[in-house]
Amino acid sequence: KREIIIAPSILSSDFTRLKEALDTIKDSGADWVHVDVMDGHFVPNITIGPPVIKCIRRQTDLFMDVHLMIEKPELLLNDFIEAGADMITVHAEACTHLNRTLQIIRQSGIRAGVALNPATPLNVLDYSLELVDMVLIMTVNPGFGGQKYIPQMTAKIKAMRDRINEQAPNVLLQIDGGISTDNIAEVTAAGANVIVAGSAFFNAHDKAWFVSELRKKSAF
Ligand code: DX5
Ligand code: ZN
Repeated sequence: KREIIIAPSILSSDFTRLKEALDTIKDSGADWVHVDVMDGHFVPNITIGPPVIKCIRRQTDLFMDVHLMIEKPELLLNDFIEAGADMITVHAEACTHLNRTLQIIRQSGIRAGVALNPATPLNVLDYSLELVDMVLIMTVNPGFGGQKYIPQMTAKIKAMRDRINEQAPNVLLQIDGGISTDNIAEVTAAGANVIVAGSAFFNAHDKAWFVSELRKKSAF
């Protein structure tokens, strides 16, 4: 059985106690920390930016997976890179020159991801797959934690898994939004291997149990 990567999102933590949240993620046995950046334009919510990410970097050695839900991410890429991101994921819908943006991220020595909203078809990646380390299929419309998984996304995950297996088998397939112990079997059977969990992780009384339950129920 291949391993899945579990990436709790600090979006659902108490932002006044970020250090505790990072330690909780580390102690739970999860693999990455997922950091949601929102600008109030691309999505109807605002979260944190490079200064806070720089502080997070000083407080944890977890792999930092930065999900940019912002318009024109190319304008701020250097700030996020210098803040210490290990991977930056941009939305295809937010980039006029997606391939250039992905190249800039990779040239800086970190990993590059591309995210698709639920309504965005997979073919926007036809000429980009060789430039990415990860594809993120959004399983909710981004902007908020605690939303419900959109069931139609299971078929989309499957279709993306087929493309990855054919064209770029090392590319990671991440999913984000509404993931819990109830649907982990379904999404991993469809082919997801990087799992973001926000509210389900922070609402779990026993985080280590939650993480091991995700691994146990995973079909991947
Ligand atoms: C949604 C964010 C997610 C969010 C997931 O816009 O990109 O990362 O934190 O939260 P849950 O797991 O609660 O849906
Ligand atoms: Zn996210």
